[in-house]
Amino acid sequence: MHVTHGKLRSVIALPMLGIAIKYPTLPSIGHILAVLTEDIRVVLETAFQRRTENLVFPFTTAIFANWHEYTFYKRTRNPFLHPTLFSLLGIINVQPLAVPLSRDAGKHIYEALWALTTRDRTRKLLSLDVHHFFHGENFCTDQGMLRILDYSSKATQLVIRDLGDRLLNVKIE
Ligand SMILES: Nc1ncnc2c1ncn2[C@@H]1O[C@H](COP(=O)(O)OP(=O)(O)OP(=O)(O)O)[C@@H](O)[C@H]1O
Ligand SMILES: [Mg+2]
Repeated sequence: MHVTHGKLRSVIALPMLGIAIKYPTLPSIGHILAVLTEDIRVVLETAFQRRTENLVFPFTTAIFANWHEYTFYKRTRNPFLHPTLFSLLGIINVQPLAVPLSRDAGKHIYEALWALTTRDRTRKLLSLDVHHFFHGENFCTDQGMLRILDYSSKATQLVIRDLGDRLLNVKIE
């Protein structure tokens, strides 16, 4: 069993079952203590609102990310998407286990997607979400064809919608 920690979500690989389970990354005890003890004066001044936001906000964002990923897959069944098979209201998502590409593959992926279109809106969305597309680990391949593992963000979903069938021809060596 192997666990990968993303910024928002963590992924447990279960090779025996051939699946990957995504769930919100839980804050470590160290992180909770650091957040709660950081600058007690500020905590007291702003009452505990800001601190609770720091702990609760990433967790709820991750649940929404999981949910948006699931509903986008369910709604579109777009073959460029690595499938999301199941979601327990965003608390956990299940995808088939994949082998993420290397971080370095991201530059090539970004350039390949950029070359698929000359449309201003799509290129703007690509540049707004550049970190996401540059991050090769957000992608895998299926029989040499590029597929995306992480498609929870609205900008990513709009790029995928804009590029449509053209995405199915992107090959990664
Ligand atoms: N189906 C899968 N099979 C195997 N590994 C996966 C799968 N889906 C995601 N991963 C790995 O787990 C990492 C985190 O997943 P994902 O990118 O979906 O979460 P995230 O919270 O959006 O992370 P980040 O913000 O760091 O991109 C991915 O970068 C990838 O390496
Ligand atoms: Mg990711």
